[in-house]
Amino acid sequence: MIRIEYATATEGFGSRQDHENVETQKHKPRWCAEHLPYPPVMVENPNPFYATLLMEDHAGRISEMSAITQYLYHHHLLNEHYPDLASLLECIALVEMTHMEMLAEAIIRLGGKPKFGAPCNQTISWWKGDRIYYGCGICDMLAADIQGEKDAISQYHRHLDAIDDKYVRAILARIIKDEKEHIRLLTEKFNKYCCKNKNK
Ligand SMILES: [Fe+2]
Ligand SMILES: [Fe+2]
Repeated sequence: MIRIEYATATEGFGSRQDHENVETQKHKPRWCAEHLPYPPVMVENPNPFYATLLMEDHAGRISEMSAITQYLYHHHLLNEHYPDLASLLECIALVEMTHMEMLAEAIIRLGGKPKFGAPCNQTISWWKGDRIYYGCGICDMLAADIQGEKDAISQYHRHLDAIDDKYVRAILARIIKDEKEHIRLLTEKFNKYCCKNKNK
């Protein structure tokens, strides 16, 4: 089960204090993220081209949307027999949601709309559920999750090369730090569960 930590039904969202608590906590790094603050979501100037690049990161083929859904699926399948790994996958999925939210806010400030797809030849290639790796066992799932993080980092670097906006660059650079931490944590689990016979 996914636990959203920002507020619960019993706490409610009714008061101004509740709202302010949510606003100040929503971009705090979680235990499975790099322990550094997130930069403010700002842009130097509106720029529709930069917005289209961030839409790829938001909900393109290699994207936070793909990462979130893949991690959730793997979390659900592994939860019964590998609770420590399932807990990590749940945490990482929530960090990817933070990335997605930051990207959405940046896209809007750049003059775009954070729809669930990426611009392609004057239209939108909509995000679909066949874009993620479902897998059939813990080791191929973990290998795919690690590769997904590496692919995301490569794409973020390509977009860093194309974007000349110091605020957007700071967001992408900070996200990359989280993705590197995810590779480290996932590799620990891969070594724990998938490399038992490597010295035999
Ligand atoms: Fe991410
Ligand atoms: Fe990640």
